[in-house]
Amino acid sequence: MACYFRRTIASKLSKILGAPEETLLAAVSAFPVSKKQQSPDFRLSVSSLVEKGLIQSAGDIQAQTEQLAHQLKWSSVVEEIGVGPAVIHFKINKTLLAKKLLHQISSEGSDFGVKSELFKRSPKGETIVEFSSPNIAKKFHAGHLRSTIIGNFIANLKEALGNNVTRINYLGDWGMQFGLLGAGFKLFGSEEKLKANPLQHLFDVYVQVNKEAKSNEDIQKSAQDFFRRLEGGDDQALSLWQHFRHISIEEYKKVYKRLGVHFGEYSGESMYQGKIQDILQQLREQGLLKTTQRGTGVVDLSPEKDMSLCTTVVRSDGTSLYITRDLTAAIDRKHRYNFAEMIYVTDKSQQNHFEQTFKILEAMGFQWAQCCRHVPFGLVQGMKTRKGDVVFLEDVLDEARARMLQNMRNSRTTKVLENPEDTAEKVGISALIVQDFKGPLLSDYRFDWDRVLQSQGDTGVFLQYTHARLRSLLRMCDDGEEETFDPSLLQDKRAISILQHLLRYDEVLHQSSVDLQPKHLVNFLLALGRLVAVAHRDLPVKDSPSAVAQARLQLFRSTCTVLASGMKILGITPVEKM
Ligand code: ARG
Repeated sequence: MACYFRRTIASKLSKILGAPEETLLAAVSAFPVSKKQQSPDFRLSVSSLVEKGLIQSAGDIQAQTEQLAHQLKWSSVVEEIGVGPAVIHFKINKTLLAKKLLHQISSEGSDFGVKSELFKRSPKGETIVEFSSPNIAKKFHAGHLRSTIIGNFIANLKEALGNNVTRINYLGDWGMQFGLLGAGFKLFGSEEKLKANPLQHLFDVYVQVNKEAKSNEDIQKSAQDFFRRLEGGDDQALSLWQHFRHISIEEYKKVYKRLGVHFGEYSGESMYQGKIQDILQQLREQGLLKTTQRGTGVVDLSPEKDMSLCTTVVRSDGTSLYITRDLTAAIDRKHRYNFAEMIYVTDKSQQNHFEQTFKILEAMGFQWAQCCRHVPFGLVQGMKTRKGDVVFLEDVLDEARARMLQNMRNSRTTKVLENPEDTAEKVGISALIVQDFKGPLLSDYRFDWDRVLQSQGDTGVFLQYTHARLRSLLRMCDDGEEETFDPSLLQDKRAISILQHLLRYDEVLHQSSVDLQPKHLVNFLLALGRLVAVAHRDLPVKDSPSAVAQARLQLFRSTCTVLASGMKILGITPVEKM
């Protein structure tokens, strides 16, 4: 359903300007709520009309704004029209605002916002989101955690907006590390330990063999030998590799489940090992593959084709590189999924890598390379657990849960819970997510458990607390009766502020869908939480006359719906009680 008010304003404009309503919708936006003054509800950017050529750019823009405002007449919907610098402000009838908006939220439920007219023209189609992608036997570091939660957010958002999303985990499951692991397992491995704690054991073996190999040439040799056998398709080597890979994935799945993350496909670099000859052949036929004096194979990406910007795609001994496998993987995915868009989520150190990958694909004539997008993020410093530096995702989640549980025990307001560990886990994870999503993804940040888990302020704990409070209010007062209410009883400025803020939800989702930055949504929800805190304190339900209580309940019910759907898109599971 379209926003009734945005459409009303756009339709009036359309009559005056003679342009289709659809194109005008984007120029009308809800006004951000401010603490200091009563704000108008909508604004129209006249400069954006000029940009779109809907108003002639000749002439004084302010005079044009005044003139347009004059032509737009007041009505029973729009009660006041004002003029600012190249903008027109609209105040709408507040009873109508409460009525229409709350009605829409209650009938659309979790579809509210995502089914907005703002998304009418955004492409719907097969979307691939590749994220998390840890390396077997190596550390699962903070960067992998970031990739996991950011990728999950993007996938959730795209899915909510109606795309068919496939989540791919592209594991680092090939390379010399398996040579070392294969050799190392013979020396230091134990089937028993592998069963008991697979990731830990593989990591320990890897660390140990790495260390020994530095001073022991025999180990180096046997690692190389093992990897050669692996590449040559030796059954025994392959079966050990397969075993390591399999149990690692099973372990990862358990931890992803705690995060509420799932994948449609676990692939990895190994899948493309055997297919690189095809791509090299193709590059050769297209005249894109050049051999250097050192014997490496490169693709020349320089504009002048003077070899000033070369990307190596094959080593002098004929083996493939990270980028070769990525090129092959992208082409393979296009064949299998025929995606309309593919998004990769990794830290910013790989920006160059993806730029080159996309450029080479384009040079090969794959137009769809333009539909590939890399979402880079910054580094997290200082993420430590009681065990020290982060080695496993599980440890981060355990730490978040333990610390949160402690905080809950120390807090006087904590409710009696059926499963406090489970609640602590969900709240702890939401704290990690909110901390990570507040700023631009590209910024680095310093990690601090105490700040992350604060119950007040801009944290995931605060969001969860807001949700739990609303749910408890609804449990206590909601009699499940029909949701009729008198909207004229929601004219208090605290109620109006919430309504005005809710008007922005689809715009915020739209922003996030364009730049794939979760900060718009997170900050919207945090601001909603602050407005709810005030309303909760000043607009009681319980001891108010029944009609007032009913109206307020409807406001809180709708607010809770929007809060919960926004949290779910972020990858947060809202808790009922805490
Ligand atoms: N495994 C890689 C790493 O840990 C990330 C893989 C990213 N995806 C890709 N298609 N290259 O750095």
